[in-house]
Amino acid sequence: MKNSSFAKVNTINQVMNGNRTLTLIKPKAVKEGNIGPILNKIQEGGFRIIAMKLTRLSFIEAQKFYAVHKERPFYENLCRFMSEGPIVAAILEKDNAVEAYRDFIGSTNPEEADEESIRGLYGTDLQQNAVHGSDSDDNARIEAGFFFAEREIFTA
Ligand code: CMP
Repeated sequence: MKNSSFAKVNTINQVMNGNRTLTLIKPKAVKEGNIGPILNKIQEGGFRIIAMKLTRLSFIEAQKFYAVHKERPFYENLCRFMSEGPIVAAILEKDNAVEAYRDFIGSTNPEEADEESIRGLYGTDLQQNAVHGSDSDDNARIEAGFFFAEREIFTA
């Protein structure tokens, strides 16, 4: 079957080219009905959504996703919280996306985040900080591959 005219399908490595990042809307923000407002803010910030799904992590999947934090004291609680309900996963596109998105969403701790940032508006504490954003291009590539198949990522 030929690709449709509006969706070129590429490999994850081609797609995650330094101008893309992976975000998650975390369970509490989803439960509180904040998917719409958060996506709206993301788009107002000039980030283009090129892949997106509503999904749920098992505890074991959350452990794999956050494996980099496995020695940290908050690891188990974080994995429990991240697997307690549905999340939204999305790949966002913008120049210098990883850094731009981390600046845009605000500090990891919502109490220290700009009041108008996503974490300032919708996060409640360090763990339940509304959204995740990849912290490097390499991790963005790994995290995009964790959630998306190549055919689910759409470039112009
Ligand atoms: P996130 O961007 O998803 O990446 C790792 C997560 O670990 C982070 O957001 C926070 O939710 C969580 N986290 C980081 N530091 C702490 C901490 N000191 N206590 C509890 N959770 C933390």
